[in-house]
Amino acid sequence: GLPHPRDTMALSTELKKQTQLREVAGVLLQATSVDNWSQIQSFEAKSDDLLICTYPKSGTTWIQEIVDMIEQNGNVEKCQRAIIQHRHPFIEWARPPQPSGVEKAKMMPSPRILRTHLPTRLLPPSFWDNNCKFLYVARNAKDCMVSYYHFQRMNQVLPDPGTWEEYFEAFINGEVAWGSWFDHVKGWWELKDRYQILFLFYEDIKRDPKHEIQKVMQFMGKHLDEAVLDTIVLETSFEKMKENPMTNRSTVPKSILDQSISPFMRKGTVGDWKNHFTVAQNERFDEIYRKKMEGSSINFCLDL
Ligand code: A3P
Repeated sequence: GLPHPRDTMALSTELKKQTQLREVAGVLLQATSVDNWSQIQSFEAKSDDLLICTYPKSGTTWIQEIVDMIEQNGNVEKCQRAIIQHRHPFIEWARPPQPSGVEKAKMMPSPRILRTHLPTRLLPPSFWDNNCKFLYVARNAKDCMVSYYHFQRMNQVLPDPGTWEEYFEAFINGEVAWGSWFDHVKGWWELKDRYQILFLFYEDIKRDPKHEIQKVMQFMGKHLDEAVLDTIVLETSFEKMKENPMTNRSTVPKSILDQSISPFMRKGTVGDWKNHFTVAQNERFDEIYRKKMEGSSINFCLDL
């Protein structure tokens, strides 16, 4: 079954539309994005674009702040110039009459840093044709599911997640916005040696942020001093980003993100799934995981 639509009485027509999901090539996306699909598919990437790619709730905001801090040479004030959602155009984002993600990207001077949640097979082809740089962050599926569940509880422009049990089924069946976690991660992993893809893991950034931030810096072709790196580690910690109004989504109206239900910067930890999965759900999940990821060389620990 499809996700539960919300009671959207208070929302404008365009926001209401966003709460609905529609399918494109077997992947559910927000209806406003699907309405804009031809514009998205014909997006013209440039060879010096860097695209931040994630499945939802995998640490997008975190890696965006890391990338921006590197780009701004560790200058905290410059990273305060705009809320994080506005710093890197979101390719598939559409909510008329506001300019779409594609339109915002077009207005941005190069070198551009952009972001997307699209799986590889739905990515505008010009990104591949121009051999752009891709920065992919993967997060283990169990924590991702938990994070997405709480996000859908508080995000009034995504479908209501229903009960945890219902959401568990929806997630493993890929019946959520941006489709199946399994297909997404596998798809990007498979292409990582064919294109310029830096493939990172949320869990690694959490364990050794400095090391992972250094990898991002090298990938971006930047050289920063140790002291600057230390500043970036500090400024992009969960605690700092939770307090930072430019990263914590506190400027988004409650009618869209209701942080009294669940904060956007919720826990920022590895292994919170243990507080949500029953033993039976965990066993079932591990079995499904093995089937769905069979043949892929990606190696996630299932018992973090
Ligand atoms: P939780 O819900 O598990 O807390 P996205 O930005 O892709 O929507 O991902 C959101 C998730 O990343 C949330 O996970 C959020 O708390 C976590 N997150 C955001 N900033 C973080 C940081 N600096 N360190 C660790 N986790 C962070």
